[in-house]
Parts: sequence; C-alpha cells; structure tokens
Amino acid sequence: MQELLCRLVAECRDECSSGGVASYIPELAKADPRMLGVSVLTTERTFFQGGDASFPFTMQSISKLISLALAIEELGEDHVFERVGMDPTADPFNSIMRLEMVRPHRPQNPLINAGALVILSLLPYRDGKTRIAAVLSWAGRLLGNNAIAVHEPTYVSEKNTSDRNRSLAFFLRSVGSLKGDVEDLLDTYFRQCSMLVTTKELAFLGMVLALDGIDPFSGERLLRRSTARVLRALMATCGLYDGSGEFAVRVGIPAKSGVGGGIVAAVPGRMGIGVFGPALDGKGNSVGGMAVLEHLSARGNLRVL
Ligand code: DON
Repeated sequence: MQELLCRLVAECRDECSSGGVASYIPELAKADPRMLGVSVLTTERTFFQGGDASFPFTMQSISKLISLALAIEELGEDHVFERVGMDPTADPFNSIMRLEMVRPHRPQNPLINAGALVILSLLPYRDGKTRIAAVLSWAGRLLGNNAIAVHEPTYVSEKNTSDRNRSLAFFLRSVGSLKGDVEDLLDTYFRQCSMLVTTKELAFLGMVLALDGIDPFSGERLLRRSTARVLRALMATCGLYDGSGEFAVRVGIPAKSGVGGGIVAAVPGRMGIGVFGPALDGKGNSVGGMAVLEHLSARGNLRVL
C-alpha cells in the first residue's frame, strides 16, 4: 500500500499544473501548487502515506462536516434540516443567487457556505468564544488529534477578505434564515475554516465516517450511526459542490473538499482517505487530490456509488 501511494503521488503530481491555488484568500495563495500528499487508514488500524502527507494545511470547507456533525448530534436531524436543505446545487459554493430567488430562503444544503453559516447559527452556545471552543473540541475527537488549532494568519487573511461570506450572512439574516450576532458568527466560521490539519487527520475522520461513527482505534462511538450516514450521503451528493456529479462518476466514494487543497473520503466499512494538493480546479476542488482518489479507487476497487 505504502508503495502504491508513493507511486500514485508521483504519477499524479504533473496533473497539479492544470490547476491554481486559491487566490481570493491571500494566505492560501502562498501555497506551493506542486505539493501533493495522501494518507490512508485501513481496518488494520494502520496509516499508509505518500508524498506531502504530513504537510499542514487549513481545513476550509471540510470543517463544515465537523460543525454539521455537532449540530445533528446536539439538535437532531429534524431540527437541522428544517433550516437547511439536503439537495445538491449546480452553483458555486459561495453563490448568493438562489438564496434570493427561491423561497423559502433556505440554503440548499449544509456544505455550501450559506448552509454552513446557518448550521453555526443553530449551535446552542452563547457567543463565538464558546462556539469555536465546542467546534475545536469536536474536531479533536473526529480528527483523532486533540491539539487541533486555528492557523491565525489564514484566519486573519480570510476575515480581511470576507465580502462574499459577509454578504451571505447579512442576506440570510435579512430574510430571517439566520439569527444572532452576524459578526460573531462569521468569526466562528473563519476560525473553523482555518483549523490546521494534515492528510493523516483527514484519513482518521474518513475512517470514523466509514465505520458509521466509531473511533477506529478505541472502538468508542463518536457519532450516532445515523449522523455518520447523513454526513456520507451529503458528501456523496454535495461534497464537491458543482463538481459532485463528475466526482461520483469518476471516483464513486463519498468525499468532501476544501479550498486549502484537502479532500476527505470515506469508503464504508473499509477505509478513510485524506489527500492534499493546493492546486484547485475552477470549482475549488484539488486537481491532484482528485486524480489520486480516482486512481486509488480504481486500483483498490473502492467504488461504492
Ligand atoms: O468561505 C470560504 O470561501 C472558504 N473559507 C471555504 C470555501 C471552501 O473551502 C470551498 N471548498 N472547496
């Protein structure tokens, strides 16, 4: 496996040149577009790694899975899905268009930016400080690393260039879809997106979801079975935004991407995978990461969709 992963990274690295690093968040623009790494966690509880597997990067949209899991566990599925939909969208992850055009003005799913903002607003904490503390503590459990921290330069960079997310949040509040202190909420959102991980933590998260919510090492139940299944279903249909359909056809595994270049994938009952490659396609998904997943899926017969 180790050998296969090293070979896959070497084979796929050239694909990175067809993408570009996220430039709308200046701190992300500093990344090296040729980086590519992968970690795999199997049922033998062994991590296998290839390439830049241990290079730290920010979770970005992958963090939406953490706060969504927290919201479903604390509030229940029914409550959460009264406020956000569960359907894929053909629009970009930060699009504002449908929010105004379609009634009720409810984000189409919890993995687009508008949906993630509503999810954070539902969490039962009194202010941003306690909200991000809860998200970080859950991130620690679901990522198998209790030392998860916010990368301050990315957080500041994102906060300083946040016009689009601010527009989404203020619009949502104006139509009654989001309540509370918008500034405080945005602050939590930027911090959760800036949580620093490596592909190893993503492989752990993938395996927790693959095992229907069980910690792969301790055997402890971290999430209800139903919560893990909801997350996998949303990953399969909405995890790569308007690229989700093509990814399902090419790779066939539930996954979630982030503009930091990470992708987490969960092969039910079998495997958790984390990939990292900061060169993105036009939809915000890692080109090298998707290539590694496509080859790994084909060679390991991992397709479930
Ligand atoms: O809010 C944003 O635009 C970023 N912090 C996260 C977007 C993202 O990761 C979309 N993923 N592919």
